[in-house]
Amino acid sequence: MAAAALGQIWARKLLPVSWLLCGPRRYASSNFKAADLQLEITREPHEKPDPSKPLAFGKNFTDHMLMVEWTEKKGWGQPRIQPFQNLMLHPACSGLHYSLLFEGMKAFKGSDQQVRLFRPWLNMDRMLRSALRLCLPSFDKVELLECIRRLVEVDKDWVPDDTNASLYVRPVIIGNEPSLGVARSSQALLFVILCPVGPYFPGDAVDPVSLLADPTFIRAWVGGVGDYKVGGNYGPTVLVQEEAKKRGCEQVLWLYGPDHQLTEVGTMNIFIYWTYEDGVLELVTPSLDGIILPGVVRQSLLDLARTWGEFRVVERKITMKELLRALDEGRVREVFGSGTACQVCPVHRIVYQGKHLHIPTMENGPELIHRFLKELRAIQVRCPPGNGLDGCSPGKVTSREPPS
Ligand SMILES: Cc1ncc(COP(=O)(O)O)c(C=O)c1O
Repeated sequence: MAAAALGQIWARKLLPVSWLLCGPRRYASSNFKAADLQLEITREPHEKPDPSKPLAFGKNFTDHMLMVEWTEKKGWGQPRIQPFQNLMLHPACSGLHYSLLFEGMKAFKGSDQQVRLFRPWLNMDRMLRSALRLCLPSFDKVELLECIRRLVEVDKDWVPDDTNASLYVRPVIIGNEPSLGVARSSQALLFVILCPVGPYFPGDAVDPVSLLADPTFIRAWVGGVGDYKVGGNYGPTVLVQEEAKKRGCEQVLWLYGPDHQLTEVGTMNIFIYWTYEDGVLELVTPSLDGIILPGVVRQSLLDLARTWGEFRVVERKITMKELLRALDEGRVREVFGSGTACQVCPVHRIVYQGKHLHIPTMENGPELIHRFLKELRAIQVRCPPGNGLDGCSPGKVTSREPPS
């Protein structure tokens, strides 16, 4: 009996089961249904942003939003797509004080004018994990995704026509109990808003960023919530970002532990493409050990690189000592961040312990970065089958299972 149980534990450890598939698809006893969606179209549509001007991230919003209310007594209410509007909140509402989670994903307009969400089920999985971690209500991921798909469809004319532009989708859940007690909220609001966003990098050029790596600042720690997308993880990073700017850097390289492990870059996952100490060319990113946010783009780059099978692809701890040695020995090819905002962002300089470390990413093409950007783009606008990833067209959202 004990041996069988141990066997099961080992099997679970050894099987390559993605964290994304850990949660049951239908978790709650009370769920809202996309079939019950109520639709109220705005009578006062806003003017769309001028396509000839750059679109600042997160400052323009579309005409509609999704709203679903939840109470402990009644469960989820009917989902509504309604005109974009301000929220009316009690000043003691728990979401304003303690309990807030969010997601971030993008919809792209293809050359066929279809608007497609990129791997949105991965965001649904992550969002449900965050909700459970904050004791906010669970929901049916398939139903939420279908509601989001309908919202995107309603506002699809807001997706800029530029092939590099997109619609940023921001789902949020907040506790909505008018009470200051730090306790499970008996009320919640789920809402989704949309922002048209311009290209992160204009044209085909990619601009590299410089990073401040100061181990006195810690983003997340073992046993904490760094691997969840909860609001509390982000507010305190703004000051560190400001400090990076003061010291001539664009972003923060978050280090962790006495061995100064590289964990994340700003709000991006980090990758290094190098020849490792054993002489093997590899792409490495830190493993999901509880302090790393499981990024959708991170997973996508790993999936793509594994499909190519051209170099070793590993998830393991990376330390500054290893990076310094590799730089000294000329083994580093490219260092970059990955995330929904930029997709892939090159790094050319790291400021660490008073030293300015030059990272030769740009001198090396950057070949891998350009290849990733091109492949992701192709999936996002054309949704081709059989490339190791699945894009997602609006019509297919509910029928697609996550990749296994
Ligand atoms: C801390 C952090 N790491 C990594 C990422 C990248 O995640 P994704 O690829 O899902 O955008 C994000 C962005 O959501 C983030 O906030």
